[in-house]
Amino acid sequence: MQETFYSLPVPLTIALVADLHDHPYTAVVSSLQANKPDIICIAGDFTHGGFPPSGLKMENTEYALSFLAACTEIAPVYVSLGNHEWLFCEQDLAVLRSVGAVVLENSFILKDGIAIGGLTSARFTHYRLYRKGFASLIYPRPYYFDAKELEPDLSWLDAFEAQPEYKILLSHHPEYYDKYLCNRKIDLILSGHAHGGQIRLGGYGLFAPGQGLLPKYTSGVYGNLVLTRGLSNTALIPRLFNPPELVYILPARQHPAGNRG
Ligand SMILES: [Fe+2]
Repeated sequence: MQETFYSLPVPLTIALVADLHDHPYTAVVSSLQANKPDIICIAGDFTHGGFPPSGLKMENTEYALSFLAACTEIAPVYVSLGNHEWLFCEQDLAVLRSVGAVVLENSFILKDGIAIGGLTSARFTHYRLYRKGFASLIYPRPYYFDAKELEPDLSWLDAFEAQPEYKILLSHHPEYYDKYLCNRKIDLILSGHAHGGQIRLGGYGLFAPGQGLLPKYTSGVYGNLVLTRGLSNTALIPRLFNPPELVYILPARQHPAGNRG
């Protein structure tokens, strides 16, 4: 795992975590303990896969729940939901809160002069709507959709944007940036999902879900968007020249410790 440090005009030190995909996390927690961020922002896809064998999705994770609990011992944890959290129900969100994580499900909070919001993956939002039509069933099947056709819930973003505080938005999908976010008055947007483009050559990635071949957003800082390559893998395409990454964003006057691969 590579630690990447960016110096940006932010008011506090932020750890950006994404795409754990329910994998082992010892190195991640060690890094967080050593670097002592002021807040830990989990920008989605901490779980993995489809229907759980039984019961609740979150309680059937192998690593994700204990990872989040470990993070809360280090710093305040803010969680936004990615496409792999699509099967979450209200109990799953309650489980997250029970370990001390702040769940930002198309919502924001004000804390210490900062507004932190979470734009949920459209896949979660639409499956929740679908499930409401089948109230007596926990996991109705089948559920078919074309993810590219789905839109996230943007209804709360105007209120978020109107806050006078410094605004941080967790948004798992970087492909939302051009479509919905780049013209909004948001100071910092944190994303994952692209997995660095899977195969990286010359600073470019080959493929990203939601963006396709030769994606525009794969890794780094693009204006007010900071995009991590994430911590693990899910695609059939392997990660090549593309180590998993944990990003730290430091207030600009603080010198970064540099990349430690
Ligand atoms: Fe994702």
